[in-house]
Amino acid sequence: MRVLTISGSLRPDSLNTLLLRAAEEQAPAGVQLVRFTGLAAIPPFHGERSDPGERPAPVRELSEQIAAADALLIATPEYNGSIPGVLKNALDWVSTPFPDNVLRGKPAAVIGASTGGYGGMWAQAELRKVLGLTGARVVNGDLSLARAHEHFDEAGTLAAPHDTRLSEVLDALLAEVQPVAA
Ligand SMILES: Cc1cc2nc3c(=O)[nH]c(=O)nc-3n(C[C@H](O)[C@H](O)[C@H](O)COP(=O)(O)O)c2cc1C
Repeated sequence: MRVLTISGSLRPDSLNTLLLRAAEEQAPAGVQLVRFTGLAAIPPFHGERSDPGERPAPVRELSEQIAAADALLIATPEYNGSIPGVLKNALDWVSTPFPDNVLRGKPAAVIGASTGGYGGMWAQAELRKVLGLTGARVVNGDLSLARAHEHFDEAGTLAAPHDTRLSEVLDALLAEVQPVAA
């Protein structure tokens, strides 16, 4: 089973990317977590919904990686109470052509880390709404890691009990993946 992970942060020291690394450590046998690293290369979306035309290579890359994945795990920062523009822009691209986009029916889980006291829960709620509108199957699991900088050690290991909550989200996501019919 293959899970595509996307960090909504472009920062090299991103806490959200660290959270995805922690999820990679927890992946059960037979489950591969693969991170999409091309977010910064995705150009601004032009707004053509049903006939988006030739796609830029970075967008094709993202679409192909989503199509090849059984599920998506997205860790989003919160900027001014919402989703980072780069992440929303990428999702707007792959929401087209509407309604038959690569996200339709794809199981997706949303988590997030923030240095603030609420763990970026507004951004996660926004992201769940956006994914739902694209047709993705958003799972219920939730992890809003508040004051996230306090919960990783120097090796990047996530502290208890947050590690357990992360693994519960991963379990909920994997349970949502339907086996492909032979
Ligand atoms: C422009 C900007 C706006 C922010 N707004 C919020 C916010 O609304 N809520 C919040 O919890 N943190 C906010 N933060 C702090 C982020 O949670 C913090 O920078 C976090 O480390 C970003 O995630 P990252 O480490 O994955 O890059 C903001 C940060 C920036 C740069």
